[in-house]
Formats: sequence, C-alpha cells, structure tokens
Amino acid sequence: MAQVARCGLVPLLGLGTWKSKPNEVQAAVEKALAVGYKHIDGAYVYRNETDVGKGIRSCIDQGIVRREELFIVTKLWNTFHEPGAVKPGCMESLSSLGLSYIDLYLMHSPMGFQKVGDELFPEKDGQRLTSDVDYIDTWKAMENLVDEGLVKSIGVSNFNITQLERLLSVARIKPLAIQIELHPYFTRDKLVQYCQDKGITVVAYSPFGAPDREFKNEVKDPCVLLQDPVVAAIAKKHGRTSAQVLLRYHIQRGIAVIPKSVTPARIVENAKVFDFQLDKEDYDQLAGLNKNWSILPASMVAKLQKHKYFPKSDD
Ligand SMILES: NC(=O)c1ccc[n+]([C@@H]2O[C@H](COP(=O)([O-])OP(=O)(O)OC[C@H]3O[C@@H](n4cnc5c(N)ncnc54)[C@H](OP(=O)(O)O)[C@@H]3O)[C@@H](O)[C@H]2O)c1
Repeated sequence: MAQVARCGLVPLLGLGTWKSKPNEVQAAVEKALAVGYKHIDGAYVYRNETDVGKGIRSCIDQGIVRREELFIVTKLWNTFHEPGAVKPGCMESLSSLGLSYIDLYLMHSPMGFQKVGDELFPEKDGQRLTSDVDYIDTWKAMENLVDEGLVKSIGVSNFNITQLERLLSVARIKPLAIQIELHPYFTRDKLVQYCQDKGITVVAYSPFGAPDREFKNEVKDPCVLLQDPVVAAIAKKHGRTSAQVLLRYHIQRGIAVIPKSVTPARIVENAKVFDFQLDKEDYDQLAGLNKNWSILPASMVAKLQKHKYFPKSDD
C-alpha cells in the first residue's frame, strides 16, 4: 500500500462533494478512490450522502480499498444542534453512507438553526430561524458519539479563535481538526497559526474559491483564483496547472485540502500535487494575494450575523 501523506491523522488530500449531484458523485468517489484518494469530505446538508456511500461501498466490494484505509468525513448539520438531536443526526448520515462508523465527524458550524420539519435552512419572513443552543452542549453530545464508537474522531468547521478557545477550555475530547475556507485570497494567518499551535489539523475548503457555487453572481468582487495571473505564472514556471499550485500552497503550509470535482481528468490532476515544490518566492507571492475575500456573499452573512454564535473574523 502506498504511503498516504497526512497532517496528524488526516490525509492531506481529500475529495470535496458539496454541489456534486447525486447522479455524478458516485462516479467521482469511485474515480478518486481508484487513483489513490483516501479522504472523502461529505456533509448531511449536501444531500448526496447515499450516493457518496455507494461509491465507497463499490470500491470496497471490488477490493480497490479497504474500509480501514479510508478517512470518511461528514458533518452534523445546524438543525441538529440540540444535544438530543446529535445522535439521530449522526445515525442518519451513517445510514445514508451505509457505514458503521465515520472517521471524522465535524460540527458544520457553531450556529444552530431551529428544527422545522426537514427544512435545512428554516426561514420566516425572509429571516433565518436560528437557535441559541450552545455549541458546547452540542460538542458534549458529539463526544458521546466517540464513546459509543459511532465516530472515530470529532472536529469543528467555521469556528473562530474565540470559539475554539472556549471549546478547548471545556472539551473532554479535543477537536482533531477544523475545516475552514482557505486560499491565497483568504489566508487567515492568525486562525491557522492558533490551530497549528494547539495541534488541531487545519483542513482548507473551497481551495479554488468554489467557482460552481450558486450564489456567485451576488458577490461584487468575483473570484478568479483559477485565472489569477500570479498563480498562472507560478504554474507555468513549474509546468503545472493553476489548480495544482493552489492545492500545493496548502500542503506546504501543513494544511489538508479537499478540492471538489466531478470531472475524472481533474480528479486525477488534483491528486498530482506531491511531486513538486513551491519555492519561497512562489509561496510569498501566493500569500501576498490575500485580500480577506470569502466565497460567502454579503446577503448570506447579513442573514446570520445577528446569530448569537456568528463567528466574527479574528484576522
Ligand atoms: N465546512 C464547510 O462549511 C464547507 C464549505 C464549503 C466547502 N466545503 C468542502 O470543501 C469542498 C471543496 O470546496 P468547494 O466545493 O466549495 O469548491 P472548490 O473545490 O474550490 O471548487 C470546485 C470547483 O472547481 C472546479 N475544479 C475542480 N478541479 C479543477 C481543476 N483542476 N481545474 C479547473 N477547475 C476545477 C470544479 O469543477 P467540476 O466539479 O465540474 O470538475 C468545481 O466547479 C466542498 O466540496 C466541500 O466538501 C466545506
């Protein structure tokens, strides 16, 4: 078995599955596992866990991978923050994925939403129906999932430093990892340093700025990471693609990265990031592109920023 590059327990490269349609994600997972990915990033809210699970199962059944080699990640959605809802939320994901355990279960956000039927984004009169369940109470219920063997490890996503500090001061089980938006337009140095100092593995999401996101047109400053001339020049210098440079940037920061693709050739391309090195000049140029630009449009932020646990930036 080829050695898998990891940060802590987390394989440095994973396949993202947000926006991957149910009818295409099974093939994407199968392609990824066939070419050596071990880490698959999913979430309850992506509504494609059943097909992600089919891809995993078919590779195991064909002997392409063994379950023990895989690092399967999924996330507790915001409508399951009530402590009593945490286990049912996890069980739904396990059942959809067809797995007996999850390797890393993340709290998708520190912000809970009210449970209104099966609504994932409950709203009334244009306002998000938020809940004030404390993420500490949600975390304690997630710790019980580890005790029960339903998940091997737990972590968080979209938390800021203040929230992490508060969590670390009471957690019985330390978060293994944090998943956050990260790319050269949003380098979040303070948060990354804090997590690395505390031994929490950082996982970068939206490494290409999520060019396929639905709400793209709302953003005034369009994200052109994959077309950025600085990134393109570094790619040319190394005989690589811009995508590979954007992924390699995280790996050299000691950060895991989970690019999403449903295109077989890109799934292969995105995995070829362990056989070249960015030099200091390239790295500094990439870091110099930072402009605290996020994929989240102002309209979405506006709906959430009154939330008691809105993660205001610490950078
Ligand atoms: N925790 C959270 O709150 C959170 C939030 C956002 C994302 N995530 C996770 O992070 C993953 C990745 O982020 P993302 O989906 O937002 O966006 P992303 O990975 O930045 O970008 C995905 C887009 O890039 C395209 N692409 C992939 N490889 C490419 C290549 N080599 N060349 C050119 N284009 C390429 C994909 O197209 P095709 O698919 O058509 O090939 C897709 O349109 C998600 O899928 C999800 O698993 C987590």
